[in-house]
This record gives sequence, structure tokens and C-alpha cells, in this order.
Amino acid sequence: MKNILKILIIVLIFTSSLNSAENKTKLLEPNWTFDGFFGKFDRASLQRGYQVYKEVCASCHSMSYLSYRNLGEKGGPEFTKQEVKAIASQYEIQDGPNQEGEMFMRPARPSDKFVNPYPNINAARVANGGAYPPDMSVLVKARKGGADYVYSVLMGYTEDVPEGISLEEGVYYNKYMIGNKIKMPKPINDGSVEYTDGTQATEEQISKDVVAFLTWAAEPHLEERKKTGFKAVVYLLILTILGFVIKRKIWLRIEPKV
Ligand code: HEC
Repeated sequence: MKNILKILIIVLIFTSSLNSAENKTKLLEPNWTFDGFFGKFDRASLQRGYQVYKEVCASCHSMSYLSYRNLGEKGGPEFTKQEVKAIASQYEIQDGPNQEGEMFMRPARPSDKFVNPYPNINAARVANGGAYPPDMSVLVKARKGGADYVYSVLMGYTEDVPEGISLEEGVYYNKYMIGNKIKMPKPINDGSVEYTDGTQATEEQISKDVVAFLTWAAEPHLEERKKTGFKAVVYLLILTILGFVIKRKIWLRIEPKV
């Protein structure tokens, strides 16, 4: 038995050291409002994040699991009904066939899915030098490191490329991308968008806002999940105290044997 335990511990230490060797570059870790036990999204940040997605990322990245009405749901950016309607109506989608058997274009409605920037994956590849801009609906959940990883990639472009790395046309150096090469031109700079709520549009702020938005998109019920977790802990705590009090009451009746 003891030997098995020893072997297990050795294997554990070995695998954890393998893991740490893998993560050579530590990801950036900004303070997310949605981290931790009481984590919550910052509504204004989510709304700005949608603006960034729409104005910057949406020309290449789809978000095909989202509908415009999701933008008005509780726990998300919480745009008003009118705002959601206005957002949807800015897009045109194909519908049909009509009575003549023809497809036609009409303004999008809140129940429609986000419009894709490209008609299909191949068209997306051709437009991006062979690389496919991944769909962003669940990207934050799909990547190791989650929000920190996506934020780090956005902030990870640098002018001084280490020696010995050659970059072909349309390939950029990025500190945090796997293999350090990425076929996405740096999407965010200071002032890439203009905020209307007085927030300063620095590179860090824009990146933080868009990553918060993408985190909500990948886990729309995050706030509810954390609230439920909190309630469960309080419930268990009360139950424990109750159990303790009852136990004492019962055992008080028994005389000590000494
Ligand atoms: C000009 C087109 C274009 C724009 C605009 C763009 N991207 Fe990209 N993005 C790409 C392409 C192409 C890739 C795939 C790169 C690769 O595989 O080398 C990519 C990859 C990424 C990745 C890495 C995903 C992975 O596989 O790990 C992230 C994160 C990302 N984009 C975020 C964003 C965000 C956030 C925005 C908006 C602020 C944005 N992108 C705007 C084209 C674009």
C-alpha cells in the first residue's frame, strides 16, 4: 500500500512539472470583474465590448450561436428592447423563398442569428491568407487560459521579433499565440473605437471590454451559476451549524462515564 502511494506521488510531481514546462510564457491576468466567488459582469463594459466586436472583429470573426435578442437578456449587456431592435435592423439577411420562389434580403430581426462575415469557411480562408478566423461564440471556453489567453493574444503583438524567427508575408509575431505566429493583423490599437460613455479607448481598455463580452457570450449564465453556488454554500453552512447544535443537545443527556 505504501509503495503504491509513493509511486502515485512521484507520478503526480512528474506530470505537474511537465505541465509547467509547457507554459513558458505566463499569460497576462488583468483583474476581471467576473472572476472569483462573487464575480459579476460590468454591464457598461459588456456594452462597449459588443461595440468593439461589431466595429472591429465582426468583419472577420463570426459569432454564429448568438441571436441579436441575446444582447437584451439578463446577465448580459442588457441592451433595452428598442436598442436590440435597432441593432438587429442594421443588418440584412437572406430570407425566402417568396411566392415567386425567389430568395430576398430583409432587415434582421432580434430573433435572427448574428450575420456571418463570410458566406462559408473557404471564403473566410481565402480572404485571410489561408487561416480561418475561428467563430467567437465559445472561443473563450474553447481555449486553455480562457479570458486571460484571448486578452494576452490581443496584447501580445510586439515590434521587436526575436532573432531567428522569420515571418512570411501576412504572418505576425505574437508572444502568446501557440508557435508565436499568427495570421491576424493586430486588431486593436489605442483609439481603435470611439466610446460614447466617456471611457478612454486605450488598447488595454478596448481589449478588456471585448474579452468581457466574449466571456459572457461563451458563458451567458455565469452570474446565475455563481449566485447558485453562493446560495448552496450558505445552505450547507446553516445545515452544519444546525447539525452541530442538535448533536450537542442530544449528547448532553448522557452522563459522562468517569
Ligand atoms: C482582418 C481579419 C481579422 C480581424 C479584424 C480580427 N481577426 Fe482575430 N483572427 C483572424 C484570423 C485569420 C485568425 C486565425 C489566425 C491563425 O490561425 O494564425 C484570428 C485569430 C484570432 C485569435 C486566436 C484564436 C486561436 O486560435 O487561439 C483571437 C483570440 C482573435 N483572433 C481575436 C480577435 C478579436 C478579439 C478581434 C477584434 C478585436 C479580432 N480577432 C479581429 C482574423 C481577424
